[in-house]
Amino acid sequence: MEDVDWLRSMLSMEQEVRPPGSKKSETKFLNGNCVKLYDEERIVAYAEMRKVGSHVEISTVLVDPEYRNKGYGKRLIEQAVKKIDHNKILCCTKNPAMAGVLHSLEFKITKWPGFWTYFILSINTIKRLFSMLIRLDFRRIWQQGKGIHKYDQFEIIR
Ligand SMILES: CC(C)(COP(=O)(O)OP(=O)(O)OC[C@H]1O[C@@H](n2cnc3c(N)ncnc32)[C@H](O)[C@@H]1OP(=O)(O)O)[C@@H](O)C(=O)NCCC(=O)NCCS
Repeated sequence: MEDVDWLRSMLSMEQEVRPPGSKKSETKFLNGNCVKLYDEERIVAYAEMRKVGSHVEISTVLVDPEYRNKGYGKRLIEQAVKKIDHNKILCCTKNPAMAGVLHSLEFKITKWPGFWTYFILSINTIKRLFSMLIRLDFRRIWQQGKGIHKYDQFEIIR
């Protein structure tokens, strides 16, 4: 399977992450600021990074279900942190496995990442909501909305 087909199928399946875009836009993501892990030729894990206010956010963290609980998530975040050339890194999640990975890598929960980061995060959340509404992706809206209070913001400042 091509990387882009894998990414699109993972994004369709996993309701906690952003919805999939076209093949062209996902190819752009794969060629952009991201980390990918392979088992031989096969892509098995992916995470992307983007500037959010005064932080760089690690988001859309995906490990192929066949490869979960084998340390791929941890390796992915380790590599992302190494690759990021910025002193403040953020990752927002309500997934317990993801929270475990972040704790193990010395991320700390923050209640207030600062006005600028909070502002851009809020705008990104509204944009994501619109993109899910346009797709009539109510299952994803429900899945992400019902536990909104459970999201934690994990931060590393170095
Ligand atoms: C979250 C995700 C990336 C983790 O990847 P992974 O490869 O399984 O991660 P790792 O194997 O490195 O570590 C998982 C850790 O969580 C623990 N864990 C697994 N399920 C858990 C659960 N339900 N509750 C608490 N801890 C859990 C594992 O025991 C392991 O800890 P350990 O290293 O101390 O044994 C993966 O499950 C995934 O892709 N989920 C779907 C997409 C998603 O929700 N992404 C997060 C969006 S921010």
